[in-house]
This record gives sequence, structure tokens and C-alpha cells, in this order.
Amino acid sequence: MAISRRQFLLSSAGIIAASQVPQLVLAAKEPGFDYVITAEEGSAELIHGINTSIWGFNGGYPAPVLRAKQGKRIRIKFINKLNEPTTIHWHGIRIDIAMDGVPFLSQPPIMPGETFIYNFVCPDAGTFWYHPHMNSTQQLGRGLVGALIVEEAETIDFDADIPLCLKNWHIDEKGEFTELSIPRYAARMGTPGRYETVNGKHKPTIEIPAGGLIRLRFLNVDNTLIYKIALKDFPAKIIAIDGNALSEPVPLTAHEIGAGMRLDIAFIAPEKSGEVIEVQNGKGRLFFDLLKLQTVTAKLPKRKNIPALPVNPIPEPDVKNAKTVNFLFEWSGAMTPADKNGIPKHEFWTINRRVWKGMSKSNLPVPLAELKLGKTYIFDMKNVTPHKHPIHMHGHTFTVLWSNKKKIRPYHTDTVLMEKNERVKIAFVADNPGRWMFHCHVIEHMKTGLMGYISVV
Ligand code: C2O
Ligand code: CU
Ligand code: CU
Repeated sequence: MAISRRQFLLSSAGIIAASQVPQLVLAAKEPGFDYVITAEEGSAELIHGINTSIWGFNGGYPAPVLRAKQGKRIRIKFINKLNEPTTIHWHGIRIDIAMDGVPFLSQPPIMPGETFIYNFVCPDAGTFWYHPHMNSTQQLGRGLVGALIVEEAETIDFDADIPLCLKNWHIDEKGEFTELSIPRYAARMGTPGRYETVNGKHKPTIEIPAGGLIRLRFLNVDNTLIYKIALKDFPAKIIAIDGNALSEPVPLTAHEIGAGMRLDIAFIAPEKSGEVIEVQNGKGRLFFDLLKLQTVTAKLPKRKNIPALPVNPIPEPDVKNAKTVNFLFEWSGAMTPADKNGIPKHEFWTINRRVWKGMSKSNLPVPLAELKLGKTYIFDMKNVTPHKHPIHMHGHTFTVLWSNKKKIRPYHTDTVLMEKNERVKIAFVADNPGRWMFHCHVIEHMKTGLMGYISVV
């Protein structure tokens, strides 16, 4: 069989990755489906030489990297082999509501032993991800998080294209799980996991082709943390934010991604083999190694520049005729409120003075807002809490227009990281009918109040 240059490059990149610690395997194929995946108990060697019992897609971690093509349909057969109900949500995809994977709002929970077929079109190219939307502190926290890559409709010629799933695990030195949520942390920044991993390994070294044009796709699949991505003394450009290409790549200095958010960067690797680039994570003013990239000899055409990716076909908001909806994110204080029997109610956060008390069929609240199909809306959002919140909307990609804290070059995203006391305006065309979740992606914040939905009719 003749092999195209593209295939060669992809497979040679595959060999490079396969020889490395973090293996990213494709899911098994079955006729009629692009992927077959399960959610089940399994194990992963997160700490060298120790197996941790996890919940994983196909029983492992990292999860299979799913690849779709922009504008094309992807069909995934999903089997729930957990002992509890679940669903899968396709984070960032402008999807049909029936496929959005939110229990009660868009589909019934998938019960243990049941199969559900997810079948949808991916209108946008970029770095997306998938995760359950039930019992999320546990299900995501124990490992049910994976990358969904939608390849550009027109081929972009990278010499290596590497997804990097960032997650801190709530495990001790024996690889045993510790508390995934501690109320006093849930009421603040969230409970951090102690064991940092990139594709399931602590501070891995990943080989990249010397002289190659490299694309790194960072995915913050953590329940809680913000990662601040930087390369130590090496130039790179941001080419996409949260799956959405920037029309003009911008230099990377340090870029923060909150839980659920993604960042695509590109750079040209050093021409000599054996060179090391340090990828770092900033905490406050300090930077720490997250992983290392090491060049290996490769025969590649000489690379000179970093291409811009094609911008996704997001409808242009008609800002002049937009209707504004206000959102207020508040903190209900450090004290744990209790119900009349003295049982603590973990309701720490509110959106527009309201807490969504968990998901069940019988207690769907009214939507936070009812939007008219086809109309442009501006969400004027105020975070009056002393914490940061990555605010995420399902089913739509919005444009960040303005902030009271920093100068914004409008950009497309599905999640915006709000600073403490920040006010942000976003705009979008409500072009996707359905009931769409609108929540903070710090899972404990969402579970203790920072969650609601909007309805587009
Ligand atoms: Cu990753 Cu409701 O989202
Ligand atoms: Cu989502
Ligand atoms: Cu939050």
C-alpha cells in the first residue's frame, strides 16, 4: 500500500510517542462505529511500579485519544461497565442536544450494563475532550477523562502532534485514593490532587523530531487546578485556545488554563538531536517542570514558520442588536450551612442567587435564562467571589469581548477563566436549540452550587 507523506508523518510521530512513557492508544474499531469505548474499573501505573485502581475509559489511563474530522460524523458505541449510571459529554463540541450527555437535561442516565450510541457531527476543528456528567467528582476524579481531537478539514502539516492531558491525582505515595473532595476546600479553590501527571506519568520526557514543526495540545482534564503553561527559554506560539484557532498566532509567555480548558501551541524544534525543552507550570511567580521534550534525529524538510490554523465557522454575534443577560457568581461564605436537622448542606456558591441542588429528574430548576433561537446575546458576568472560576457553556462557542481586568483581543472559546472580582462580557448567537449547561468547571464548585442551564428555543 502506498503511504502518503501525511500518513508517514503521523505514524512516525506515533512511533515516537509509542517509544515513550505516555502511550496514547486508539480505541478498538467495530464495523459501523469509529470507536467502541467502555467506562469501567481498571488500573493504571501512575506511580512507577505501583498499580492504582482507577475508573477509566476502556479500563485504563490515559484514555483512548479519539480523532474525528471536521465537518464529519463520528459514531461511538459506549458501554457503561461501571456499577453506577453515567453519561458522556463531548466538551466544546457544538453538538446536537440529544448527544450532549447531560443526565435528565439531554438524555436519561446510561445505567450499568447499558450501551448508548453517540453519533454526532463535529463542526469545528481543534482540541476537545470527553468526560461523564454524573457523579463528576468521583467519575472524573478517578480517571474518566480523555482527549477528542477534531482534525482540520484541510490538512495542516505538523511533524508531530502531541496531546498532553494534565491531571493531578488524589492519591498517596502508595497509589491509594485520598479524599476527592474536602468541604473546606470545595468552599474555596477546590481540593487539589497531590500527584501531578502528564498523560498519566509524573514529569515525563517525550521525544520530538529534531527540526520539526511541533504542535502540543494541552488539555486541563483536572477536577480543580489551574495550570500556567510556559516553555523555559524557548519561543513558541499560541495557535488555538480551547480548541479554537486564533486568526493570528501570538507568542506564548505564560498562559493559564483552568479546569476543562485547552491550549494549543506550536514551535519549531531545535535542529540538533538530544536537545531538551522544558515545559513548565507556573505557581504564583515560580515555575516548575511539568515535562521535558527531547529532540531525536529526523529527516524532515526545513521548517521556517508557524502556520495559522483556519478559524472555526462560529457565527458572528450581532453585538449591536444583542440582548444582555446578567450573571452574578457569588460565594455563600466559609461557614457550612446546615438544614433543619443539622445535616450540613454543601452549598457554597450561587449563580444569580441560586444553587442547583443536584441533578435528578424531579428537581430540574427553571433555566437561568431563556434565549430565542438565532438571536445574539451578551452575557455580562460578574465574579464577586475571592476565587477563580472557569465558566463553561455547552452547545455554543462564544466570543470573549471585554474584561474589567485586562485588555481582551476578542477570541472564541467554550470556557472563560474568570479572575476574582472580574467582570467579563461574552457574546454568541443562540443558534443551537436545547437546554445547555452553564457552569464552573471546578467540579466541586459545580457540585456545590455553581451550575445552571440556559434554554434556547
Ligand atoms: Cu466539560 Cu459540562 O462540561
Ligand atoms: Cu462541556
Ligand atoms: Cu468555580
